[in-house]
Amino acid sequence: MTILVTGGAGFIGSSLLRQLAPFKERLVCVDKFTYAASQDNVPDNVELYMADLADEEAVRYLFEQETFTDIFHLAAESHVDNSIKDCKPFIEANVIGTVNLLQLALEKEVNRFMHISTDEVYGSIEDGGYFVETTSYDPKSPYSASKASSDHFVRAYGETYGIPYFITNCSNNYGQNQFPEKLIPLFINNIIHNKPLPVYGDGNYTRDWLYVKDHAIAIDLVFHRGRNKETYNIGGFNEWKNIDLVRLLCKKMDSKLGRPAGTSESLITYVKDRPGHDLRYAIDASKINKELGWKPSVTFEEGLEKTIDWYLANSDWLQHVTSGTYQEYYKNHYGS
Ligand SMILES: NC(=O)c1ccc[n+]([C@@H]2O[C@H](COP(=O)([O-])OP(=O)(O)OC[C@H]3O[C@@H](n4cnc5c(N)ncnc54)[C@H](O)[C@@H]3O)[C@@H](O)[C@H]2O)c1
Repeated sequence: MTILVTGGAGFIGSSLLRQLAPFKERLVCVDKFTYAASQDNVPDNVELYMADLADEEAVRYLFEQETFTDIFHLAAESHVDNSIKDCKPFIEANVIGTVNLLQLALEKEVNRFMHISTDEVYGSIEDGGYFVETTSYDPKSPYSASKASSDHFVRAYGETYGIPYFITNCSNNYGQNQFPEKLIPLFINNIIHNKPLPVYGDGNYTRDWLYVKDHAIAIDLVFHRGRNKETYNIGGFNEWKNIDLVRLLCKKMDSKLGRPAGTSESLITYVKDRPGHDLRYAIDASKINKELGWKPSVTFEEGLEKTIDWYLANSDWLQHVTSGTYQEYYKNHYGS
């Protein structure tokens, strides 16, 4: 078996590669190597190709070099704030990239197309409600609109041409190797450097959080035991208001860095809200729990400890990914 993992040099893709690496399948990773990627994230026994999935010829070339039995599709532009500044890279990577890949998967008759998506496709939900697999799509940001579109194309290829597929929609991930632009790694990095912690609006936005390794385990389980053409929601049963999560993180960072209590909290600054900000995401992961027996293996406290410890022990990695390459890529794509 030769398995293709797209976006494997990014955060979740590299965690999935580490999950799959001990097994006997040959692993190939294709990645465009945007600012969010790092070659250091990819395990040694993985064959690496650098290509943009939005470039049909490049995708075709890859499928001429290799015969893939299965595909895990994670490559995407993934940061909501960037999609608000300019949605075109999101349409190219997330929509066109997915369709190019589906087309080659169809032509080459791959066995399974695993599409990794987000709970953000469902939009915002009131207190007490939960997203289930049949909840209507209601994306609010350009990022979630592009992911919703990619989900629709996967289902359309499945229904129209019969490609075997699975879709997973997961809540916010945290853990090692996440580029420090999203809340947890950004704030860890800022606390280390005594920089402000910008909290959107009043900080009352609510999200469900899952340790990235548990996401990778869930994807692997769906791959082996999921039912064809099914969607599985994946979540941590772990809702936090942003401000409460940030306070917990500050407390832990003070203790890890040996700073007086309250030092990190004093860095919190409330900033103008993100336009179209969804108030609450809450995912019901009981289908994967009941059908496949999956549940998170670590508590949030444990996962957060592991995450902080990883970033503190990997300051070289942090330094490397926040260096000039990122600044240059970002300027070229988003202007400032
Ligand atoms: N981070 C989360 O909390 C979360 C939650 C649920 C679902 N997801 C989904 O999981 C997937 C991975 O997310 P992530 O957080 O690891 O993102 P990431 O930004 O860390 O990694 C994305 C990877 O895709 C690559 N990539 C981007 N555009 C590409 C293109 N056109 N061609 C080839 N490679 C390209 C990047 O170089 C990067 O390595 C995404 O599809 C995302 O929508 C993320």
